[in-house]
Amino acid sequence: MNVRAGKIEATVDPAAVPQRRLYTGALMPAIGLGTFGSDHLTADEVAEAVRGAAAAGYRHFDCASVYGNEKQVGSALQDIAAIGIKREELWVTSKLWNDKHGEGDVIASCEQSLSDLGLDYLDLYLVHWPFPNFHPPGCDVSFRGSGAEAYTHEHYMRTWRKMEELVDRGLVRHIGTSNMTIPKLKLVLRDARIRPAVNEMELHPHFQQPELFEFVRAQGIEPVGYSPLGSPGRPERDRTPEDTSPIEDPVIGAIARRIGVHPAAVCIKWAAQRGQTPIPFSTNPRHYISNLRAVVEDSLTDEDMRAIAAIDRNCRLIKGQVFLWKDGQSWEDLWDVNGEITPP
Ligand SMILES: NC(=O)c1ccc[n+]([C@@H]2O[C@H](COP(=O)([O-])OP(=O)(O)OC[C@H]3O[C@@H](n4cnc5c(N)ncnc54)[C@H](OP(=O)(O)O)[C@@H]3O)[C@@H](O)[C@H]2O)c1
Repeated sequence: MNVRAGKIEATVDPAAVPQRRLYTGALMPAIGLGTFGSDHLTADEVAEAVRGAAAAGYRHFDCASVYGNEKQVGSALQDIAAIGIKREELWVTSKLWNDKHGEGDVIASCEQSLSDLGLDYLDLYLVHWPFPNFHPPGCDVSFRGSGAEAYTHEHYMRTWRKMEELVDRGLVRHIGTSNMTIPKLKLVLRDARIRPAVNEMELHPHFQQPELFEFVRAQGIEPVGYSPLGSPGRPERDRTPEDTSPIEDPVIGAIARRIGVHPAAVCIKWAAQRGQTPIPFSTNPRHYISNLRAVVEDSLTDEDMRAIAAIDRNCRLIKGQVFLWKDGQSWEDLWDVNGEITPP
C-alpha cells in the first residue's frame, strides 16, 4: 500500500473508530498502531506500516525515541499529511527514554522526538519506564547498566516537573506514565500539578491486571494496553519458559472460530470492549487492517467477555529484567508485588 501515490479511500472510516475521552476533554482513538520493531524489523519497514495503516484508517500511532525509528516514522507522517490527513486528525504519542530522566534532558529529548517526527506538538508524551536505567540494544536479561539506580519518588517527580513544563510550553498536549504500579502512581497523583492522562501498561487476556486497570480508570487515567496479542514477535530476552500466548488460548480460539475471525481479532475486540486502548504492532497490511476492523465490527457477547475474564493467568511477558538496579534481584521487584515500592 503506497500512500505517496495519492489520496486513498480508507479501508475503515476513521470516524467509525471508537474514541476515548481523556480528562482534558480530548478524544483519543481507541486503537493505535504500535511501532516497536522488536529489534528485528528495520525502521523503514515500520515506517511503511505507518503509511499503510494511516491509509487504512488508523489515526493513532504509539512511538518512542528508543524504538530508533522516529525519523523514518516522521517521513511517513509527512506522506500522510501530503494525502490530506490533517495533523489534528492524528494522535501521536512518544516516550522519554530511561537515559533522559535528568532535569536537563527531558525537554531536549522531547524536542528531538518532535524534530524527528516532523511535528510541532505531541498529543501524548510518556515517561517510558519509571527507572532511570537503560540497556544497549540486543543485550541479554542479565545486563545491568553501570549507573543503575533504584526507583525513588523524588527522582521521578523531578522528571515529572519537566514533563509538566512540556505541557506549559505547548510542546505536548498530555503527559502520562508507563509501566507504573499502584503505589508509585498514588504518590505521583498526590504530588503532580498536571495529572497523567494515560498509563500505558501490558494488557492482554493472559495478563489483565484487574487491580491496576480499575485503579487508573477510577482516577480518570486512560489505560493504554501494550502487547495486546501477547507480543508473539518480542525479542528473545523477553521470553521465559513459563510464558503463555493469549492467541493460542483455547477459549480465544473457540470464540474466533464461532465468529469467523483470527484469534488476534478476538484479543483486540476484548481489549476495546473492556475499556482499554490496544496498540497492536504489525507490518503486515492484512493483519493491521484486520486489527482495525476488529474494533468497528461484531462485538463480543457478554458471555464471551466473561469467558475471557476467566482466562487471566497473571502472565506478565515484558518483565523488564534489564531495568533492575542491583545483583540478586528478581524481576518482580520492579512491579511492587507486595503493594509497596521496592526499597533501594
Ligand atoms: N510502554 C512500553 O513499555 C511498551 C512495551 C512494549 C510494547 N509497547 C508498544 O506496544 C506495541 C505493541 O506491542 P508488541 O509489539 O509488543 O506486541 P503485540 O502487538 O501484542 O504483537 C505484535 C506481533 O503480533 C503480530 N500480529 C499483529 N497483528 C496480527 C494479526 N492480526 N494476526 C496475527 N499476528 C498478528 C505481529 O506480526 P506481523 O507484523 O507479522 O503482523 C507482531 O509480531 C509496540 O509496538 C509498542 O508500540 C510499549
